[in-house]
Amino acid sequence: MQAKRFAVLAIVIFWLSSLLAAAQTPAKGADAEGHPWWQHAVFYEIYPRSFADSNNDGVGDLNGIASKLDYLKALGVDAIWITPCFPSPQVDFGYDVSDYENIDPMYGTLADFDRLEQEASQRGIHIILDFVINHTSDQHPWFLDSRSSRTSAHRDWYIWRDGKGPGQPPNNWISSFGGSAWTWDRKTKQYYYHFFYPQQPDLNWRNPAVKDAMFDVTRFWYKRGVSGFRLDAVDTLFEDPNLHDNPVVAGKDAYGDPNEVNKYNDNLPEVHDVLRGLREVSDEYNGVLIGETWTDNIEELNRYYGHDHDELQLPMDFLFTMVNKLSPAEFRKQIAAVNSASGWPTFVISNHDIVRSYDRYGDGKHDDQIAKLMAGLYLTLRGTPIIYYGEEIGMKTTPPTRREDVKDPMGRSGWPKEKGRDGERTPMQWDDSVNAGFSKAEPWLPVPPTYKTHNVADELKDPNSVLSFYKKVLALRHTNEALLDGSYVPLNESDQKVLSYLRLYKDQGVLVVLNMSGVWQKVGFDLNKHGFTSAESLVSTEKSSIHRGSGGGNVVTLGPFGVFIGELGK
Ligand code: NOJ
Repeated sequence: MQAKRFAVLAIVIFWLSSLLAAAQTPAKGADAEGHPWWQHAVFYEIYPRSFADSNNDGVGDLNGIASKLDYLKALGVDAIWITPCFPSPQVDFGYDVSDYENIDPMYGTLADFDRLEQEASQRGIHIILDFVINHTSDQHPWFLDSRSSRTSAHRDWYIWRDGKGPGQPPNNWISSFGGSAWTWDRKTKQYYYHFFYPQQPDLNWRNPAVKDAMFDVTRFWYKRGVSGFRLDAVDTLFEDPNLHDNPVVAGKDAYGDPNEVNKYNDNLPEVHDVLRGLREVSDEYNGVLIGETWTDNIEELNRYYGHDHDELQLPMDFLFTMVNKLSPAEFRKQIAAVNSASGWPTFVISNHDIVRSYDRYGDGKHDDQIAKLMAGLYLTLRGTPIIYYGEEIGMKTTPPTRREDVKDPMGRSGWPKEKGRDGERTPMQWDDSVNAGFSKAEPWLPVPPTYKTHNVADELKDPNSVLSFYKKVLALRHTNEALLDGSYVPLNESDQKVLSYLRLYKDQGVLVVLNMSGVWQKVGFDLNKHGFTSAESLVSTEKSSIHRGSGGGNVVTLGPFGVFIGELGK
């Protein structure tokens, strides 16, 4: 009896101590305090066509990226997200994938990918691939089989429907790139559905075989060493099976189609089941899932984290990205909103689909200063930043001026209202030599004239360049615990010109003050309330400074669009 009791006690003690040990052992890849690697990482988006061209054919490639890893490391990048580099007819420049488990010859080979992965990992840089899950290319073998006959093995891998009547698509849904979202297939006499171009047929995620095949794609790449995926167009994975017409609202879009609310083909709740499944696979490999999550409000964004934190770790907050004016009040509102969500915020200020931040916020007079101001903002907030290539040197959006020069198909069909996305995809500006050092051949898109004044080589030499400012802020962010993990505390919330906040972690704190106006500003702070007495500059723009005010508080002085980032002292 005694022995039995002893045995039970021993089992209980063993169970409790292993529970305790599990609680104390950080998850794989997390730091001693349990912060996962992606929470401290700085991500960098690379549009491979435009980053660096190693074989001088005018289009960037994987070896080109490999040749720039030292630059990225020195900048302070911990993870690169490469937009799709898989075999593709390139109708949507890679977002039309015809083979998910290979590399497009234009970008290199699988061996090049493996070498890039090894070289990146030697430098502690993670690789994130872009996973186009809503649709494939119409040249993908799955779709070729699907369209070959109504009884083909892959027929139900896509969305096929009869029309409403002769020449009439199944419903009124409009493709986001213009025209009906349904294309008639003469051979099998049915329509197939595509949220984007007709060459991008939507997968049928209600078919479990699609799910299995796509989940296996992620396994394929995890096993090759990738650290996660940016999931493309997650909101459009499912459609109403009854194909209800979408509500039509007033006006027409850039393509001349009626404006619609995507009530029945966007944001359906089933999306979350797929994300949970992808997360399960991802967790097996300690991966991270980043979402292209366009949302109307923070509640919608919040849902992408998953009810039990079991969906995306990093759903991008485009509500923040879409604050298109330097308004402290607007930014305050969005930052507070995303901080109220249940997961870790993800900040971007531009990407390959939207006009660069330089143009959205620039006033034509203080553009470089404003580029530094934006860096001072998204790189010091509580959250993970994703830098779009070229933002760090102040690259400008340079759209084509003639329709015949447009490469992005949506720019040709939407011209002149919609000029497409070429302007934000121009070649990276490495130096002031021919083609900005991107390629010896004529680049696939023209290099903007600004390469003479804004390029990596020159900016590295200039301590006051946008690039030098990015490097300083990123270096600080990597070592400063308050910036990495601290809470966000807004200050002076009625100030219409200056955005100020604290980042507080344990007994440390950082004060960030951002002048969003073109005139000098003096701002007073009472730091005592937060347990501090002073602040000392860590990284600031040239004209910013701090001094004691006559009433004992601290006063920060900032030049036009100036930045002050200071360490709080007791
Ligand atoms: C979002 C991507 O970012 C964009 O470039 C692409 O055209 C669409 N999804 C379709 O894949």
